[in-house]
Amino acid sequence: MSGASETPGLPAPPRTGASALPAGTYDGETVFITGAGTGLGKAIAVEFARLGASVVVASRSPEHLAAGRAAIEAVGAEVKVVECDIRDAEAVTAAFDAAEERFGLPRVLVNNAAANFPSPAEDLSPNAWRTVVDITLNGTFLVSREFARRHLAAGSPASIVNVGASYAWTGGPGFAHSAAAKAGVKNMVETLAVEWGPSGIQVNGLVPGLFPHEDMTDDIRGSLDMSSDPTGGHALLQPAMRVGQRQELGWAATFLASPYARFISGHTLVVDGANWQRRNLTNPPVTTVRDQLGRGTFSLED
Ligand code: HXC
Repeated sequence: MSGASETPGLPAPPRTGASALPAGTYDGETVFITGAGTGLGKAIAVEFARLGASVVVASRSPEHLAAGRAAIEAVGAEVKVVECDIRDAEAVTAAFDAAEERFGLPRVLVNNAAANFPSPAEDLSPNAWRTVVDITLNGTFLVSREFARRHLAAGSPASIVNVGASYAWTGGPGFAHSAAAKAGVKNMVETLAVEWGPSGIQVNGLVPGLFPHEDMTDDIRGSLDMSSDPTGGHALLQPAMRVGQRQELGWAATFLASPYARFISGHTLVVDGANWQRRNLTNPPVTTVRDQLGRGTFSLED
């Protein structure tokens, strides 16, 4: 055995269903996850459930709530679903009331719900901008605030994980609204970790790289499809020479909120195989966002 991997790039992770933490790490605990009915939120929720957590799935869509419930029940864990639009402070309060009534106060909060679609900045309507910032940034704050107030009142330790995006650091051409909101979320991690740390509340961020999943919106799928490698996938476009497998994100989330990460706070962990650090020695030609999205020339008449 040479020890060299057979394929280039970062080696594949252990299989889905393997655990990075001891079995039962989350026994007797509850995790509240927004947007946990689909995609990466669901994958994160399932990893907590596999480790023994009861899960509260918060979403504004009944369909997504049903999907979240099915995913958690499939791994044999307890689940409560709550309909909640995280932009609505009263709905957030009601969701935590319902969660507490069923399981007691959740120890872990994962702020996963976010809004996004690609658009040239000049095409965004005021309401489109407001909607994305309202869900992604304001919603994350409202849920964090409600969760923390209950823990501060109870004097109980807690952990928050906010799902972010690497364009919080770099800017995100084609995603001005979401990039600005995610920059706010990353900044909030740093502020709240200091404000609430003395009361035992840990706050971290978790940034996914490319983790293709069946729930990607047509908009997001379309953007990805425009940058496929010649084999039809995305592997060759990543320094890891592969995309992420969803359990890898779940392992990171369950670690960050676990007893093994108690001294990690105010940190945003990027799980993307170094893709966001990628630079070339020579610059490729600039393609405008309008061209990338197949939009015609900008006109005030449109
Ligand atoms: C342009 C759009 C639009 C689109 C909505 N709007 N979709 N504008 N292109 N594709 C505009 C609407 O026209 C409207 O403006 C305003 O946004 C609000 O739309 P509503 O449909 O009323 O809002 P709402 O139903 O509350 O939310 C719509 C949504 C949301 C924002 C699209 O459903 C959503 O985000 N879905 C996707 C969820 C998702 O995929 N999340 C994961 C994100 S991944 P007007 O002016 O007409 O009233 C992520 C990180 C990516 O965040 C990192 C990559 C590196």
